[in-house]
Amino acid sequence: MENLKKEGKQTGLAVVLVGDDSASKVYVSNKEKACEQLGIYSEKYTLPENTTEEELLSLIHKLNDDKKIDGILVQLPLPNHLDDKVIIDNIRPDKDVDAFHPVNVGKIMIGDFDFVPCTPAGIMELIKESGVPVEGKECVVIGRSNIVGKPMSMLLLHQNGTVTICHSRTKNLSDVTKKADILVAAVGIPKFVTADMVKPGAVVIDVGMDRDEDGKLCGDVDFSSVEPVAGAITPVPGGVGPMTIAMLMRNTVTASKNHKQII
Ligand code: GUN
Repeated sequence: MENLKKEGKQTGLAVVLVGDDSASKVYVSNKEKACEQLGIYSEKYTLPENTTEEELLSLIHKLNDDKKIDGILVQLPLPNHLDDKVIIDNIRPDKDVDAFHPVNVGKIMIGDFDFVPCTPAGIMELIKESGVPVEGKECVVIGRSNIVGKPMSMLLLHQNGTVTICHSRTKNLSDVTKKADILVAAVGIPKFVTADMVKPGAVVIDVGMDRDEDGKLCGDVDFSSVEPVAGAITPVPGGVGPMTIAMLMRNTVTASKNHKQII
């Protein structure tokens, strides 16, 4: 990014938050802070809960045309009256630093992509930096969301893992999860993965950001019971979360580099 600056290209990210979701507010402010730390220009748009589709699309179209802005992120979930799909479809694919637009989703499927969704990308970095081999390993992903489960599975597959996706209709879930050398939990249910679901020595990655019965932040994995069984495990908070933001910054710099080439 320093090189981009020297060449006169400032990198810019716009973050859009609609409504009052308290977790989303924290995520958005963390994204802004990361931009500040890295010297990325950022614009934050906080829109009221009753924002109409027309109003939000008008902002997105303005940001699509704004040369100062390389990346556009609309924080999800949106209020119920707004359709995620319509909003995402209107973000220019070359500014879609979340990699949620169908063009970018398709590119991930093919294995030829600029942007990787931030959470799965962060997990792949953790796996790589920890020296965990993926090739030929049994990888089990619990959760099939468009944000995490599906792209996560694709990235593991691109690294030659043998990938199984589990979800709410999976029969005998623990029989499947117990086969995993790498187990990714992305279900959004507090402490869902317990020790009896984990193969001894498995690498366990916890994507959850949940609240336990006392309102305390916890993950999808019951850390205290699983930690002694696992070969490696990510904590919540402090595991996958910071990586997600780092990958958003990386995607934004990628967008900026690509835009520099077409100026
Ligand atoms: N909400 C939860 N995770 C994400 C994310 O990665 N991007 C956006 N835009 N919203 C989210």
